[in-house]
Amino acid sequence: MFERSKKGEHALLIQPHSGGAPEEDLLEEFADLARSAGASVAAVLTARIDRPNAATLIGSGKLDEVKAAAEATGADLILVNHPLSPGQERNLERFLERRVVDRTGLILDIFSQRARSAEGKLQVELAQLKHMATRLVRGWTHLERQRGGSIGLRGPGETQLETDRRLLQKRLEQLQKRLDKVEVQRTQMRRARLRSELPRVALVGYTNAGKSTLFNALTGADAYAADQLFATLDPTVRRIELPGGGVVLADTVGFVRDLPHELVAAFRSTLSEAREADLLLHVIDAADPHRDERIAQVDAVLAEVGAGDLPQLLVFNKIDRLDGVAPRVDRPGEERHRVWLSARAGEGLDLLRESLAQALQLRRVQGGVRIAPRDARLRARLHELGAVRSEQADEHGWLVEVDMAVADAQRLFAQAHGEPLRPLLETVETPT
Ligand code: GTP
Repeated sequence: MFERSKKGEHALLIQPHSGGAPEEDLLEEFADLARSAGASVAAVLTARIDRPNAATLIGSGKLDEVKAAAEATGADLILVNHPLSPGQERNLERFLERRVVDRTGLILDIFSQRARSAEGKLQVELAQLKHMATRLVRGWTHLERQRGGSIGLRGPGETQLETDRRLLQKRLEQLQKRLDKVEVQRTQMRRARLRSELPRVALVGYTNAGKSTLFNALTGADAYAADQLFATLDPTVRRIELPGGGVVLADTVGFVRDLPHELVAAFRSTLSEAREADLLLHVIDAADPHRDERIAQVDAVLAEVGAGDLPQLLVFNKIDRLDGVAPRVDRPGEERHRVWLSARAGEGLDLLRESLAQALQLRRVQGGVRIAPRDARLRARLHELGAVRSEQADEHGWLVEVDMAVADAQRLFAQAHGEPLRPLLETVETPT
């Protein structure tokens, strides 16, 4: 049996461009994507395309150059930062005698390695199968049959590749059914969570901005943070305490520019936490020279998944990489507030917590509560919440001094035995 090298693939990257020099950061991001998928970068070539060649995208002169470079560097995979039609992919593979994967195939490969939840896995498999459906009939004879672990082939399984379209169609239907079921379950879970009435905050941002690092810093959780793109394909959700009460914080998948359209559905499911949030923490790499562009790209994707109108707090992260920038909060008039901090160094986190509490209008209430012996359960709940400052017992029960989040007081009030909280809640002003 043919054994693949354990080393991972050696990839030659091609960056097509039309006129002018291709943007440097486009190349960097593409190289990051390739490494994220587990490939090493053999070389990067740019290819100017004035009129796309219908058969191969790239002109024949350039193709000779690509083939020579692949041979010279020992590359066994060609990655093209451009969508390729199945025909173009096949023709390129024939000519270059190596596997060719386009941008969509590469991103799908990363998704399939990162998806963790049942829904994430199903969504990725569905997108992958759809992407492959048109490519099934290609002539594989010109290439060695690859097995497991190779970029663009990972995921749905090699056996699927060898089945005919009818079976593929069946598999697609089956997956869609399972997804519909998972969606129902999610909705039910969401409802249950909503009943807990805690405000919900979602971290969003361009890939590598530092969302997972910030999530960990705020929650003390050990969610997976790595210098790999998409380290978090599925949302991680935790409760955190802010001055003024608890909120639910969710981490989400990172964004990339020009998200291939067929991947939007897979993203949507991983971004559902963002869609349902009360507030978005939009994390930005403050040291990125293209940060304004990135902010606009993230905003565009948010609009696409139906989260464009949610309030946002901008978090300018990684200030440790900027000279002379200390943690601070900017509140420029009508615009979104900006918090400057370093998630890694843990600097500015308190400012962020305060800004969050303020933006969410988390309020506290203090005062004395009379609790009769028959309402002992309320007293126990107040202790559990850590709301009790002091208490005195007398023949009527207890006089308890509390300091707690308005939201917590309202929740207890809505439950049995909550009535003694009424006078306290009447002192709370309703926000205008
Ligand atoms: P995706 O999962 O790809 O979307 O990335 P992410 O936004 O969750 O980023 P992650 O937290 O994985 O961080 C990406 C890289 O930036 C890691 O190498 C982090 O260590 C680094 N990083 C995060 N925060 C900071 C910071 O405040 N300062 C510096 N210098 N590096 C940081």
